[in-house]
This record gives sequence, C-alpha cells and structure tokens, in this order.
Amino acid sequence: MQFQSLMYVVMMILVHIKASFTCNSAEYRIANECCPMCSPGNRVYKHCTEYTSTSCAPCIGSTYIDLPNGLPACLSCTTCDPDFGLMDKQSCRPSSDTVCEPLEGFYCTEPTKDGCKAAQRHSSCKPGQYIRQKGTPSTDTVCSNCTGETYSNGSLTSCQPHTRCVTLNLYQIKPGNHSSDVECGKTNSTAITAGIISAVVIVLLIIGGSIYYLHHLQKINLDCCHLEDFESVPQQETAEVSHPEGQSMISLKTVHCEVNMIGDIPVICGVGITRSP
Ligand SMILES: *[C@@H]1O[C@H](CO)[C@@H](O)[C@H](O)[C@H]1NC(C)=O
Ligand SMILES: *[C@@H]1O[C@H](CO)[C@@H](O)[C@H](O)[C@H]1NC(C)=O
Ligand SMILES: *[C@@H]1O[C@H](CO)[C@@H](O)[C@H](O)[C@H]1NC(C)=O
Repeated sequence: MQFQSLMYVVMMILVHIKASFTCNSAEYRIANECCPMCSPGNRVYKHCTEYTSTSCAPCIGSTYIDLPNGLPACLSCTTCDPDFGLMDKQSCRPSSDTVCEPLEGFYCTEPTKDGCKAAQRHSSCKPGQYIRQKGTPSTDTVCSNCTGETYSNGSLTSCQPHTRCVTLNLYQIKPGNHSSDVECGKTNSTAITAGIISAVVIVLLIIGGSIYYLHHLQKINLDCCHLEDFESVPQQETAEVSHPEGQSMISLKTVHCEVNMIGDIPVICGVGITRSP
C-alpha cells in the first residue's frame, strides 16, 4: 500500500514535469506557463498569466512576422538592394517579408522559395559570337561562336552572312571575319593595283626605250655624224648618210643627221635611224 502511493506521487511529478516542459504546437513556453502564440503579422505584447491570455500587437513600420509566434518584437523587412541586382517583387507586409526579384538584365544566383537573394548582370557575348539564348531572370545569356562566312558583333541573335559585294555591283575593299562584315566599295582595289602596276610598267618601258634610243642616238652622234659628212650638205638641212662605221655597229641602218648652226658653231645631231632593206 505504501509502495503504491509512492508510485502515484512519482507518476504525478513526472506528468507535471512533462506538462510544464512541453506546450502544444499553438503555444509557446514562458516561465512555467504555456501561452497561446500570436498569429502571423503580430508579436507578443504581454505574455499570458495564470489568469489572462497572451496579448498581441500588430507589426508596424517595416517589420513583419510570417509565422505564429511568441516573439516580443517583429523582424525587420528585407530591402531589395539594386547594388545586388534586385528590386521589389512584393513589398513587405506585416505577415510576410519583402520578396525580391532580379532587375531587368540580371539573373538570380541565389534563388529563394518564391524570390531571389542575389542576382548578377547577364553576361554579354563577344564580337565573333551570337546570342544563342537570351538571359532570363533565372538564367544567364548563352553565347556561341560564329562559323563559316558569317559575322556578329556580339549583340545579334544569329550570325549574319557576309555581304556579297558582287550582288550589289560593288567591289570588296576589305575581307570580313567573324566579328565584322566585308566592306564593299565602288572602286576595285585589285583593279587599282593592277592599274598602278601597268602604269608603272608602261612608264618603265618608255624610260627604258628612251634610254635605249638615246644611247643609240648618242652612238650615232659619236660614230656616224661627223662634221665632214655634212661638208657638202647645206646648213640647216637634213642629210641621210650611211656611214661605214655606223653600218658596222648597227648593221644596215640609215642615219638621219642634222646640222644646226648655233652662232658659228655647227652642231651635229643624229635625230633618228631607219632600218634600210
Ligand atoms: C570560340 O572562339 C574562341 C576564340 O575565337 C575560342 O577561344 C573558343 O574556344 C571558341 N569556343 C567554342 C565553344 O568553340
Ligand atoms: C552591333 O550591331 C548592331 C547593328 O548591326 C548595332 O545596333 C549595335 O550597336 C552593335 N553593337 C556593338 C556592341 O557594336
Ligand atoms: C575583323 O576585322 C575588323 C575590321 O577589318 C578588325 O578591326 C578586327 O580586328 C578583325 N578581328 C579579328 C578577330 O580578326
């Protein structure tokens, strides 16, 4: 009998201890009391007592509590910082925190249940690449290299084929690459180059020919046109002479020589040669 009553006392103590340490899920424990929680959007203003229930106060200003609670103060609302690429998706309410989302041109790097904690600017494609997939609020831009005879400066959603100057009735001035188009123009650079080269060749031929001609003329002057050849020829006239020396040098050629008088000095000039049959 004595043992049974002792057991009863122990059991009662255990039940009391258990009751004092666990409150039900809608209650919170403060001192030795289980107090009813305040609903979301409210905080505890006064804890309950043996005789009174919990007294609650709403969250005001930029504060909130989004769960049933026994907290004496509300929590500060999150601010969506543009420096982290964020803006408000849903402003703060007493019962829910601010929800942030990435700014235009940014994508989320730290997603939360229904918002975003941090975002980064979409990367841009480089010249020579095209935008294969535009960036979204949740994904970054996807770039791809241009291939073949195409180009893109990095801001196009596909690589453009190089312009074919021929179809525009123009000439290609500059070749293209993956980052820029070919350049067309009215003037054909290769034609200009060819023109310059042929002009140079023609000039060189003329100079060469003149040198060759003058060289021979000089030879003729020296070798063929001797003053004695003209003794019988009237002054200021053209004589046709076949000098044996000249013939040995330039076979079968007739030399036109001319005598001009500069004051009293006769000047003999070979002015041309003709091949005689
Ligand atoms: C794209 O091109 C760049 C340089 O032109 C090269 O370094 C890179 O490996 C290429 N990427 C792919 C996926 O081919
Ligand atoms: C790329 O080209 C487009 C038009 O083709 C132009 O509007 C844009 O400004 C260019 N972007 C850069 C970065 O040069
Ligand atoms: C492509 O061509 C442009 C214009 O001719 C030039 O400025 C650029 O450096 C070239 N890029 C490459 C990668 O060769």
